Amino acid sequence: MSAKSTSDAAVDAAAVREVHRRFITGVTVVTTMDGDLPRGLAVNAFCSVSLEPPLVMVCVQTTSSTYPALLRAEHLGINILAADQTGVAGVFASKAADKFAELDWTPAAHGSPLLDGAAARVEVEIGERLRTSTHTAFLGRIVQAEHRDTDPLVYRAGKFFSPDGMTPLTA
Ligand SMILES: Cc1cc2nc3c(=O)[nH]c(=O)nc-3n(C[C@H](O)[C@H](O)[C@H](O)COP(=O)(O)O)c2cc1C
Repeated sequence: MSAKSTSDAAVDAAAVREVHRRFITGVTVVTTMDGDLPRGLAVNAFCSVSLEPPLVMVCVQTTSSTYPALLRAEHLGINILAADQTGVAGVFASKAADKFAELDWTPAAHGSPLLDGAAARVEVEIGERLRTSTHTAFLGRIVQAEHRDTDPLVYRAGKFFSPDGMTPLTA
């Protein structure tokens, strides 16, 4: 391992960044309704917690403008972006006033905005909200699940990729 590895409490922030640059994720858009206004932000801190029960988790910074509405919500939407949605990722990573203005979307059964064209989209009933000083982890149960037969968008180290050229290493 690199000499940058450490187990000290005062861990080097640059070393931590390099760790995260080696982890590949997809990109999701986490959504909710704020009264009549759909809101959302780009989130790659998404993971499956368990299949049975179908639990997932997303982590959202408390400074996000979407955060107060998420904190009030009983449900949220998670849209796993498709490889042709880098533009959508950019919109939801921004602070634009109405990020949904140019987009088609559909309300899920409990109202969470689901983006048309996403590779997969779920509505989640929020169970736990685990607060840290900077972020809240929302854990919840998938209550609606849909997917399309299309490639997901891939994200690593600040760049977007298409999974087109990925070589399977196992059968
Ligand atoms: C690829 C990508 C992944 C991101 N992942 C997260 C994340 O996991 N959690 C988070 O709070 N913000 C994440 N962000 C940053 C937010 O999307 C960004 O701060 C956004 O402007 C927040 O919008 P809002 O303040 O309107 O809610 C990510 C941004 C990008 C581009």
